Parts: sequence; C-alpha cells; structure tokens
Amino acid sequence: MVIQGGNRLEGMVPVSGSKNAALPIMAATLLSAGDCRLTNMPQLKDIQTMCKLLTELGAVVKFNSGEVVINTVGINKNNAPYELVKQMRASVLVLGPLLARFGEARVSLPGGCAIGSRPIDIHLEGLEAMGAEITLQEGDITARAKQLEGASINFDFPSVGATENLMMAATLARGETVLENAAREPEIIDLANALTMMGAKIEGAGTDSIKIRGVNTLSGLEHRIIPDRIETGTYLVAAAITEGKVEVVNTDPVLLQSVLKKLKQTGMEIKQFERAIRLTAKFPPQPVDIVTMPYPGFPTDMQAQFTALLSLASGTSTVRETIFEDRFMHALELERLGADIKIDGNFVTVHGTDSLEGAPVMATDLRASAALVLAGLAAEGITEIRRIYHLDRGYEKLQEKLGKLGAKLERKEAGEV
Ligand code: UD1
Repeated sequence: MVIQGGNRLEGMVPVSGSKNAALPIMAATLLSAGDCRLTNMPQLKDIQTMCKLLTELGAVVKFNSGEVVINTVGINKNNAPYELVKQMRASVLVLGPLLARFGEARVSLPGGCAIGSRPIDIHLEGLEAMGAEITLQEGDITARAKQLEGASINFDFPSVGATENLMMAATLARGETVLENAAREPEIIDLANALTMMGAKIEGAGTDSIKIRGVNTLSGLEHRIIPDRIETGTYLVAAAITEGKVEVVNTDPVLLQSVLKKLKQTGMEIKQFERAIRLTAKFPPQPVDIVTMPYPGFPTDMQAQFTALLSLASGTSTVRETIFEDRFMHALELERLGADIKIDGNFVTVHGTDSLEGAPVMATDLRASAALVLAGLAAEGITEIRRIYHLDRGYEKLQEKLGKLGAKLERKEAGEV
C-alpha cells in the first residue's frame, strides 16, 4: 500500500459487522442441523477461511453480500486441517461444537504466531473437565467424549476463545456448566445471544460467571452480527492522527467506552450518538498511559493504533501490553517513520515528536498493519507498507473507506512497489 500522507480525514464512515463476533457464531452453526442465517457479516479473508473450513467439514455455506446462510446437516468430517488453522487461529473454535455434536473432533495445533505463542491449554483443560479425552498426535489435537458432562470450570485467565469454545460445547452437554473468570467481551454476549436463539440455555454472558444448562438439540437461527468495535476505534484514531473530523456510523458507542475515555484524555473531542461516534481532532494529542486489559479494559487490539497516535503526542506516554507477549513489532516499524519509542519487554515509552516522515515499512500482523496505515496517513511524504495482506483479514474495504474520507492511498501488486 502506498500512502501519500498529510491529508486531513473528514466525513462519515460506516463500520462493518464484527469479525471476532462473526467467527465464533459461524463455528456455533456446527451445533445444529438447521439453517443459520447471519447478517451484517463483514467480507473479510478470515470469514472466507471459516467458510472454507465449514465447507470442508461438509456444511453448505452460501455467502451473499453481507449475509451468509450455513447448513451443517451434511457434516461428514470432524477435523480442522493445519492448512486452515495456520492461516487463522480462530479455526480452533470448531473444536467445542464438533465435539459436542459428534462426540469426536480433531483440530491441528495452531503453533506460534506473530504476536506470541498463544497456546490453547485453557480450552483443552475445560473440555477435559467436561469429560473429554484429549490426545495429541502428529501435531493434531483429538478430543473424544460420547457425551460431554456439565462441569464447574474456573479459568486461570479470561481467555476469549476458551470462553467461546466451552460455552458452545456446554450447550449440548448433560447438566449444568459454570464458567468462572470467564471473558466478558461483547463478542461473548453476541455468541450467547445467537446460541440462545438456537435454543441454548445461557445466563450471565457479559459477566465473569456464565451458567449453561445443556439441552438435547439446537435449532437454526437468524442473527445480526454486532458492529466491529476495533474497526470503529481504528477509524476514530485515523481521524485523530490526521487532525480530522470523522463520524463513524453503524456502530455502538457502548462497546468502546475504554477507547473513548483514552481518546478524550488525549484531548480529542468526542460526541456519542445512539449508533455513531464523531471525533473532532485537537492537535497535538496529549500524552496518556495505556494498559491493555481484558474487557471492559483497554483492548489489546487497539494498542498498536494508539501507539501510532501517541508517537505524535506533546509529551511522553507509556503503553503496557498485558494480554499478549511480543505485540510491539509495529513499534520498530513506527521508528522507521520517525517515532521515538523505547521498547522494554511488554512495556514501551513513547516520546512524542512533532512529525513523522514517510518510509518503506513492513506489516507484521493485522493490528500492526492498521497502525502503520494510520501513521502513514499522518506522515509527510510517501509511506510504502509491504505485506499488507494482513489487513484483508480484518478491515473490510479499508482503502475505499479511507479514500472517501480524503486519504490518498493506493494498493499495488507485489513487485510494483
Ligand atoms: C481473541 C480475539 C483477538 C484479541 C484477543 C484478546 C478473536 C477471533 N480474536 O483472541 O483479536 O486480541 O481475543 O482480546 O476473537 N491463552 C493461553 N491459553 C489458552 C488461551 C489463551 O495462554 O488456552 C493466552 C493467549 O496466549 C494470550 C491471552 O491468553 O496471551 C489472550 O488470549 P485469548 O483471550 O484466548 O485470545 P483469542 O481468543 O485467541
């Protein structure tokens, strides 16, 4: 992506449905043989990968601009192959539903990724507590249980994926399952709402204690995916970093309170509406300190974008990452654009500078890529970002949406730049 920086963003931008809500709900369709119709679906690489995985398992998946209909009556396989799991870790979300419905599931171990080791031990311990027998062979995890049993599970850490996997598995288990220290992310609530519409009995989603009473079967569903809070936050930071004025629409401000609080602390003017947020930039941003935390704390998925913004602040900020190890790859790339960032393990100190200057940089993961785009929009001159394919995993029509706000950016094929 080639960005000509220095243009103030102005206008209105619609956000898409949440990728991280859509993926587990797509996996949940494995729990029922009925038709599942999902709307407000973002058109993203990760969603395509999940479609591919479900199709490979034997489901019929029809995707039609923003709507997907999935029917899993014809499932004839129970394994998620390495080829797909390595492309997208969220593939492990099929483990719980497949096991609960078919008594056996095999999922390739995800391995390391660009933002730390990301194991799935919490998912597996929970399934074992529900009576599953877990074995590891040739890099694949196999889980077996003729009938999962309800259990009381206390997570060591409120893992989003483990909470989702176990909540799905528990819907068809015998008896009651209680998940303590569960993740409270809005995507968990969206999954619980979808499962409830399928006939599941769930209480407490959105709190740290979720109770699931198992039922014998689940039916199909119709469900609208919640707006993407991370895409929303990314466009707000785009407005802030370019000294712009942008209204982000089709969103839900309630899901972004920690992000809005930090944006306000940087001095940005924020106006919240029922389904929209308007940011009017006040430059330069004031320095702030950020600590990433599980929801409702500051989201790790907004950390990179904020680090980019703080690189232009009028003083020194700090950012502590507590969710993932190795999630500061973007900091080194931001330095290439002139940012002054000192990395010390999972803690960075950002000394604000007056301006950034365009340079060639390399994207390393999805949110790091977004941070580089934001920095490129603010930098003087041309920024070339390589390995931009990461963005296709999480930002629908990014180039078009930013272009309509006045950004000058162009995507070129590898080799052209
Ligand atoms: C989800 C989101 C991701 C977001 C993250 C944290 C999806 C598809 N992805 O990822 O965008 O950044 O939540 O908000 O929704 N961990 C373990 N063992 C486990 C599971 C997790 O040690 O069994 C660790 C991870 O390595 C990581 C931390 O817990 O350090 C958080 O992981 P988790 O909450 O599970 O994130 P994901 O569900 O993978």
